[in-house]
Amino acid sequence: MLKARDGVPRVPVIPPLTSNRGGICLDLNENTAGCSSRVLSKLRGLTAADVSLYPERASAERAVAAHLGVSTEQLLLTNGVDEAIVVLSSCFLAPGDEAIYPVPTFPMYSVGACAAGATTVEVPAGRDFRFPAEQMLAAVTPRTRMMAIANPNNPTGALVPRAMLVRLLEAAPDAAMLVDEAYYEFCGESMLDELPRYSNLFVARTFSKAYGLAALRAGCLVGAPEHMELVRRLAPPFSVNGVALACLPEALADREFVDGCVANVRRERARLEAELSKYGVRTWPSHANFILADLGAQHAAFAVELEKEGIYVRDRGGDPACAGCVRISVGTPAEMDRLYAALPGALQRIGWRP
Ligand SMILES: Cc1ncc(COP(=O)(O)O)c(C=O)c1O
Repeated sequence: MLKARDGVPRVPVIPPLTSNRGGICLDLNENTAGCSSRVLSKLRGLTAADVSLYPERASAERAVAAHLGVSTEQLLLTNGVDEAIVVLSSCFLAPGDEAIYPVPTFPMYSVGACAAGATTVEVPAGRDFRFPAEQMLAAVTPRTRMMAIANPNNPTGALVPRAMLVRLLEAAPDAAMLVDEAYYEFCGESMLDELPRYSNLFVARTFSKAYGLAALRAGCLVGAPEHMELVRRLAPPFSVNGVALACLPEALADREFVDGCVANVRRERARLEAELSKYGVRTWPSHANFILADLGAQHAAFAVELEKEGIYVRDRGGDPACAGCVRISVGTPAEMDRLYAALPGALQRIGWRP
């Protein structure tokens, strides 16, 4: 039996998908409304050559760069933000280096750092889940080579003020700072316009959330051209598949679809917060397409009870950084109605007391 090198996580950081995803999937922050009909038309029109030839990403890269208002030298399309994280980490982290990120957060930052053999420095947020700004600053050392910040954060939905991100960029000029804007569309706050001022800044965006293309696997990383040139050397040349590349321009062109989904999330997010508060369930203000709810000791039982009704939510309560919490994605109005119909029974069966 081969032995993995030190630093390889003992357990997979990303849990497997629920075995039955036929129900109402409010567990992975996807767009349950689907995707643009323009994307579906494109998929139906694909030819054998679209499938049999290696994909060429330059033209989709031009379309995404134009959409974001950056140059193609600044942008790399990736197999989701997941790949962007791993490639960026492998470019700037080596054994002995430190990667800092707040917890709780998206687990791929730890995967990227571990894959590069670096040391992870986890900075806990308090129970209000506000960004631990001073603690992040205090964690910076001469070994800090990377910082990763999801903005808004997953699983909390919290947003970091721009001034704070700028302080961090300035405190660690020799560290690559990734601002992961996977949920950008739901909040409208971006650091893209700071790129000309800070060459250590990298911004990631995904097409998995508001655009509804999670299964196609497309995201991007944007940074200073001289640094992106290095990152590109480590990116597998065909990691973004041809089907995704063919669909991206269509997805970008359908503004109406994305705007409609974002408007729905904003409306339904407020309704979800209000519904949970009716039962005395604590939630935290979210700027993304999900809400974190405190179910205390009954977090796992709550998720199981909803699952019995075909509704999947993400139990994060076993993670000490968000003990007792369950993350609920915002779905379509009809899906949310099903959730609200199931809530009182589920809460009663777990013996919920606020
Ligand atoms: C903060 C954050 N970044 C990145 C991702 C993954 O994005 P992608 O599907 O583009 O790999 C997620 C997915 O949940 C996320 O929450």
